[in-house]
Amino acid sequence: MRKLRVLVLSSPRGLTAREKVEAQRAAARRALGELGLQDPLADREGVPLPTRGQHWSVSHTEGASAAVLCEDRVGIDIEHEREVSPRLLERFLTADEPALAPLAVWTAKESVLKKTQVGLAGLSECRIAAQPAPDTLEIEFRRTTHRVVLVRHELWYGALSCDASDWQVEWEWRA
Ligand SMILES: CC(C)(COP(=O)(O)OP(=O)(O)OC[C@H]1O[C@@H](n2cnc3c(N)ncnc32)[C@H](O)[C@@H]1OP(=O)(O)O)[C@@H](O)C(=O)NCCC(=O)NCCS
Repeated sequence: MRKLRVLVLSSPRGLTAREKVEAQRAAARRALGELGLQDPLADREGVPLPTRGQHWSVSHTEGASAAVLCEDRVGIDIEHEREVSPRLLERFLTADEPALAPLAVWTAKESVLKKTQVGLAGLSECRIAAQPAPDTLEIEFRRTTHRVVLVRHELWYGALSCDASDWQVEWEWRA
């Protein structure tokens, strides 16, 4: 059983948009460093590259940045509670999926799209196929079923997906 540790650190609020992104990125780097990965590699588009045998993924949202490391492919997404516009809902919810909070679905699909490195371009191809447990989803994406584990902490939603055959995740929130 692979045990994954997610570290979520707080990032400052009330900055300008640019300062906020920089502060969130700095918090994600600190979290990665604390997990044991310094100077993570990324391609020219910022897509994470395995570094010294470790896959890594980070996510930023209002007030928090999350990071995770794994020997297998891994994707994480966190979102702070917010209104989701009907137009955006249409892009990522379908009628045959279980009725979950929209941001839970969003983070779940993004975790798979980040793990597979496809990014948002693949959003319309992700579909929730099953919900085997309240915090677990199976998402079908390009003919593969991906297990996703959801978390809710205060006003944040989070989701993680990993390619290891057997894994569990522990979230440490310091935000
Ligand atoms: C990658 C993407 C899914 C990130 O989602 P997000 O919720 O905005 O951002 P998050 O904070 O959760 O994650 C950001 C991190 O994802 C990582 N990332 C970037 N592109 C990635 C990709 N294709 N796959 C996996 N991870 C990626 C980076 O580490 C990034 O951190 P950085 O901004 O500090 O460099 C999304 O921005 C994306 O797909 N971008 C590519 C452009 C695109 O396809 N646009 C579609 C318009 S329809």
